[in-house]
Amino acid sequence: DSTVAWREVDEYFISHLTPEDDALVAARESGADTTMPNAEVAANQGALLGLIAQIAGAKRILEFGTLAGYSTIWFARAVGDDGHVVTFELEPDNAEVARANLDRAGVGDRVEIHVGPAAESARTLIDSGTSTGTEPFDLVFIDADKPNNPRYLEAALALTEPGAVIIIDNVVRNGAVTDENPDDPRVTGVQTVTRMIAENPNLDATALQTVGVKGWDGLIIARRR
Ligand code: DHB
Ligand code: MG
Repeated sequence: DSTVAWREVDEYFISHLTPEDDALVAARESGADTTMPNAEVAANQGALLGLIAQIAGAKRILEFGTLAGYSTIWFARAVGDDGHVVTFELEPDNAEVARANLDRAGVGDRVEIHVGPAAESARTLIDSGTSTGTEPFDLVFIDADKPNNPRYLEAALALTEPGAVIIIDNVVRNGAVTDENPDDPRVTGVQTVTRMIAENPNLDATALQTVGVKGWDGLIIARRR
């Protein structure tokens, strides 16, 4: 069965190329203490995010959707000790789990967790203005409530400059993205944000399907012209 083979191949490359240290294992396992167990990215996907950040030379990263802070750790390590990660989390209890994980991973001092609805946290950053405080972000990872993907893309565009990378998680969802009449607002959120990217002449983008330990899903990777 191909899903078994996909899982085994993931486990092979994860164990060889992207092994988790104790802090990442603890962060992944603590996903069980959050409102959304098992939603964190796989280790090889976390490594991909970190590699993209490093290839882009990202020093300032914005994340929508912290949960236990698993991908946050990969980003925080990628930006290095002179980098900065801002991450938005709706649930205070999740943020507390993430804070402990980030501190355990040794990157707590380079990560700010903003607790509350991500759209409001983003609005606060946008209103604070790039001239007065908020410097543009080099990379934005959108991985929060999927129906709001379109709003989060708009916020990402307001908080970045040309050259910035924008990545959106969970855009495939077992193939649901191609449903012609989806009644799931999460699917609609992905379809709408895909259309927005397609229609934006200042974004180059592609989508990458993923299979393996997290099932069948995928990422959109975009770059501002
Ligand atoms: C879900 C959300 C995620 O961000 C993810 O990576 C996997 C699943 C969800 O909403 O179920
Ligand atoms: Mg996700």
